[in-house]
Amino acid sequence: MSTPSASLPGGTWTLGDLTVTRFGYGAMQLAGPWVMGPPADPDGALAVLREAVGLGITHIDTADAYGPHITNRLIREALHPYRDALHIVTKVGATRDQQGGWPPARRPEQLRRAVRENLDTLGLETLDVVNLRLGDAQGPVTGSLAEAFETLVELRQQGLIRHLGVSNATAEQVAEARAIAPIVCVKNMYNLAHRQDDELIDELAEQHIAYVPFFPLGGFSPLQSSALTAVAGRLGAAPMSVALAWLLRRSPNILLIPGTSSAAHLRENVVGAGLPLSDEDLTELDKIGR
Ligand SMILES: NC(=O)c1ccc[n+]([C@@H]2O[C@H](COP(=O)([O-])OP(=O)(O)OC[C@H]3O[C@@H](n4cnc5c(N)ncnc54)[C@H](OP(=O)(O)O)[C@@H]3O)[C@@H](O)[C@H]2O)c1
Repeated sequence: MSTPSASLPGGTWTLGDLTVTRFGYGAMQLAGPWVMGPPADPDGALAVLREAVGLGITHIDTADAYGPHITNRLIREALHPYRDALHIVTKVGATRDQQGGWPPARRPEQLRRAVRENLDTLGLETLDVVNLRLGDAQGPVTGSLAEAFETLVELRQQGLIRHLGVSNATAEQVAEARAIAPIVCVKNMYNLAHRQDDELIDELAEQHIAYVPFFPLGGFSPLQSSALTAVAGRLGAAPMSVALAWLLRRSPNILLIPGTSSAAHLRENVVGAGLPLSDEDLTELDKIGR
């Protein structure tokens, strides 16, 4: 059964001219172990994607590096032709090596190829939003993004990309990108226990730029905290639900892309993100990452 998008927790946000639900879906968990190869249960992966759209989610986050190529192909198989309301956000700037590492691929010719591959694997003529992935697997790394970002601006001018964003970026790189061309989102690691971007989130909110936390639930190491467990216990809710509800309350420009390979977890997360949190809950949760 379809749920109207506006009734999802958090309502909607606009990425440039694209309206998306603040509750989105991160597709990375659909690939095989450590985001390499196909999933053990391909039909289950397709079912999760169809469930996401059936629940009214209109924002899916992906990358051609997931698998590689696996999650994009699953998205295409499950959902193509796409509903007009559905917006797929992808990223370029990293590739995969045989050990499952994420080496950078930010030279102009690599970025051009990556955009073509994303168009091909997703079955699109224009990519709604492309994030330039910076840094490395350990996090952001300082340094100019100009050459790489300007390449994406050219591809946008050619009509292959509608909007741009950056990922795994320092505040200085965000500012550098914005001086070159408008961005609609920043996707960095952030959750209840990792609050390094608090200031950046507030600055972006003032500029109506979305902040999209990756690893909202802790990623490969699930969030664990006694304060989180205490609040969840008091509310009779799952800790993951509290973590998502807190993010939606943290700032109006935060968009959620929790990852899951389980339709049951997806449904639990959608309901959980709508959990009402009291001022007392928020004060207690606020202490976790500070
Ligand atoms: N540089 C970047 O831009 C970047 C980097 C990393 C990720 N991302 C994006 O961010 C998205 C989110 O990150 P993520 O998926 O790595 O991490 P995450 O959302 O923090 O956590 C995903 C993990 O939480 C588990 N989980 C989800 N719901 C649960 C529930 N209700 N109960 C218990 N466990 C639950 C999942 O396991 P199950 O599968 O068993 O549910 C999975 O192991 C990714 O999917 C990807 O699209 C972007």
